[in-house]
Amino acid sequence: MKTVIEELEQRRAQARLGGGQVRIDAQHAKGRLTARERIELLMDEGSFEEFDMFVEHRGTEFGMEKTKIPGDGVVTGWGTINGRIVYVFAKDFTVFGGSLSEAHAKKMTKVQDLAIRNRAPIIGVFDAGGARIQEGVDALGGYGEVFTRNVLASGVIPQISLIMGPCAGGDVYSPAMTDFIFMVKDTSYMFVTGPDVVKTVTNETVTAEELGGAKVHTTKSSIADRAYENDVEALLQMRRLMDFLPANNESGVPELPSDDPEDRIDHSLDTLVPDNPNKPYDMKELILKIVDEGDFFEIQDQFAKNIVTGFARFEGRTVGIVANQPMVLAGVLDSDASRKAARFVRFCDCFDIPLVTLVDVPGFLPGTAQEYGGLIKHGAKLLFAFAEATVPKVTLITRKAYGGAYDVMSSKHIRGDVNYAWPTAEIAVMGAKGAAEILYRSELNDPAKIQARIDEYKKRFANPFVAAERGYIDEVIEPSATRLRIARALNMLRNKHVENPWKKHDNIPL
Ligand code: HXC
Repeated sequence: MKTVIEELEQRRAQARLGGGQVRIDAQHAKGRLTARERIELLMDEGSFEEFDMFVEHRGTEFGMEKTKIPGDGVVTGWGTINGRIVYVFAKDFTVFGGSLSEAHAKKMTKVQDLAIRNRAPIIGVFDAGGARIQEGVDALGGYGEVFTRNVLASGVIPQISLIMGPCAGGDVYSPAMTDFIFMVKDTSYMFVTGPDVVKTVTNETVTAEELGGAKVHTTKSSIADRAYENDVEALLQMRRLMDFLPANNESGVPELPSDDPEDRIDHSLDTLVPDNPNKPYDMKELILKIVDEGDFFEIQDQFAKNIVTGFARFEGRTVGIVANQPMVLAGVLDSDASRKAARFVRFCDCFDIPLVTLVDVPGFLPGTAQEYGGLIKHGAKLLFAFAEATVPKVTLITRKAYGGAYDVMSSKHIRGDVNYAWPTAEIAVMGAKGAAEILYRSELNDPAKIQARIDEYKKRFANPFVAAERGYIDEVIEPSATRLRIARALNMLRNKHVENPWKKHDNIPL
């Protein structure tokens, strides 16, 4: 017995070495942890149970039958994060660059299947060069199997991708079908084809960082939702994120103990909105002041900053926050902001996460750049996402809610459940100046007259009461009591049940 146990230990020790000490050292020298080190930091101590550590590839081309490494470039299994079950796979770059063979794919699909069947989130840690070139179509087929499960899992369990090295091919397409992608600055890259192929095909000279670094994907392409300084920070932030997310689409949001009283009044909010309607203020200040313990996990913090999205809690229960940001482009809705927020709203709706929408929006951004870029369709995405959402929806208009953007931002008309406004709210088709100049064009050369028209329009429409008179605003609330009012509204909506008409699926304007 002793000898077989010793042999098991030996085999395990060898498998744990992956591609060997030299490659592990090279990985460390590049500032990257190994797959197993990453899993250790991600999961609760001692909770990780590994599957398939002895699996080897069965490739025979290009002399591959002579190079077999137990585990075959991916570490898979399950464990807990703050006590809740999570499935995980982490690509091992030290083994064939983490590339995917048929056997490697089977390891991944095994944990994907388990996660789907047992309704728990799955986290993929990517550090790999895509399909294993030596395996040809077997590797491509393997990716197809992984992609199919990504799609079947979508909207059923949260799928999170963490990009922690140079990733190409299937190792970017699979993440692209998951809910969130996080990267590590300076050591992670995502591209369909790397710089060498780019040079050959298009004659473009580009570095990996310029082609697909964290900066590109968090600020330009919006492929990645956030980037972190190093592996450790990224992994610890994933633990924090998981605390906000439900296990699946039927479990409901997690409930964490909170010491922050629901009736905490904050008088500084009474003066948050400046007297001058054209002066900006920081919407994030409002978010941090009203949510539990000021704990806000922002999604896409570096992209389309004119809208803020992220997770927070009221009374210990997760909500999704969508908020216009007057500090950036006056909080206007453009194509990027609409796409960003629409995707976030749909994630929340998939997973029964209530939506809290904070509105200060002067409208949609005019101009050829926006129109040529498809503003109509992108704006429609956000409108569609809010309108189809059946989760509890609480909306607060702090200042401007002009034009179509008023409708879009979770208004009563698209099934907002509780719609509040601060006394500073201005709900109108457009700002007073623009309105007066269109309605009274013939008086434009008389400044006194036009000013009187502006003042008249302001008095009539630049307030929340016209909407409140019609019941489109349920109540005009005091800013200082915002936390209490939102928390009470969310409580009241806790058992909300609405079903949309049966359909195979909708046809959101993609
Ligand atoms: C087999 C691979 C590999 C791959 C890397 N390696 N990618 N082996 N198949 N796809 C091996 C290398 O040969 C090397 O082995 C080791 O991994 C480390 O790779 P390096 O190139 O030395 O590392 P680095 O310079 O950091 O570059 C990493 C990389 C680059 C950017 C990922 O290796 C690369 O461009 N790889 C190919 C990417 C690619 O085109 N993949 C196929 C995509 S098609 P040794 O033994 O020398 O250490 C695809 C289809 C899916 O995925 C379908 C999509 C819809």
